[in-house]
Amino acid sequence: MMAKREHQKNLVPVLTKALKESNLLKAENTKVKPQRLKIILEREPKLYKKIVAFLQKYKKPDLGLIAVTNGPGLEPCLWVGVNFAKALSYYWDIPIVPVNHIESHILVNFLGNSEVKFPAIALIVSGGHTELILMRGIGKYKILGETRDDAAGECFDKCAKILGLSYPGGPEIARLAKLQTTRYKLQTKLPRPMINTKDYDFSFSGLKTAVLYAWQKEEKGGRKFHCSEISDQKKIAFATEIQQAIIDVLLKKTFKAVKDYKAKTLFVGGGVSANKELRKQFQRALTANGSKGSTPLTPLDLLFPPVDLSTDNALMAAVTGYFHRNKKIARSDLAKLRANANLRISK
Ligand code: KG4
Ligand code: ZN
Repeated sequence: MMAKREHQKNLVPVLTKALKESNLLKAENTKVKPQRLKIILEREPKLYKKIVAFLQKYKKPDLGLIAVTNGPGLEPCLWVGVNFAKALSYYWDIPIVPVNHIESHILVNFLGNSEVKFPAIALIVSGGHTELILMRGIGKYKILGETRDDAAGECFDKCAKILGLSYPGGPEIARLAKLQTTRYKLQTKLPRPMINTKDYDFSFSGLKTAVLYAWQKEEKGGRKFHCSEISDQKKIAFATEIQQAIIDVLLKKTFKAVKDYKAKTLFVGGGVSANKELRKQFQRALTANGSKGSTPLTPLDLLFPPVDLSTDNALMAAVTGYFHRNKKIARSDLAKLRANANLRISK
């Protein structure tokens, strides 16, 4: 214990010297205590070195807030971002606003769309989450349903792995499905898990297992071709059917929620919403339901983010931080901010 304290005491002058040398203790930063910066980043010693180098290069930016994702997600990854934001906040004296990752996937749709009508339904489909959310305004959410096991993106990724494709699997499956084939017919139709249940929940792990068995069967089942082109055709056929099975379930459940809650806006967000075929089929379903459905869906605004803002990006956190600017945390209260792997968008 004594030895540890002695060791810490010795560290302070060394650190102060290092910060002085790295020009971190200039006039505008006299209130910054180097030891405090080190404590903020004690879980990330490597990041500490990088941040010191980074701060040396940049002057305090003209920013009102730093938005940081504090959940949901993998806690160690969340902490890296949270601690990095805390260090910047502390050093530059800029308050932080914590944001929810799922909400960020929704609110990125507000860029350029300020006239959103409520109630709205949001379908969030990412690598870790598949959720249907009822939205009565910004900050007013109710989770109607979610996946009971694998998320849609996770299913794309795992199925891609079975087919020997690279990660992330979603774009790979989409790329193959686009090639289309009539030369290879699958022996088995893949299941659409929970497509007809009355709730708004999803389950994709059964689909992945079905893909595994069907793939093994097709590989072993006597349909042997020595031509690698045929093997490519088989992958294309699988990719097309996997993508369609996922889209079918998402479409059915989402439009059920839209009808049940008489939604005026439908948001789709998260990495899987980058899928062009999914976008096309959602658009088509909107038109079809609007013209001949017994409960016309129009006027319903269907909003997708631009493709490059569907997958994780910093702008979505910034937009969400802007909407929640009243929840900002001052530099003196940084200890209150924690990562939360299970952060929920509503109770
Ligand atoms: O939202 P996101 O970028 O990260 C998480 O929050 O998880 O989503 C990543 C997921 C991955 O599973 C990836 O395979 C999937 O989004 N994805 C796609 C496409 N682009 C990314 N899935 C289907 N089609 C795509 N074009
Ligand atoms: Zn995401």
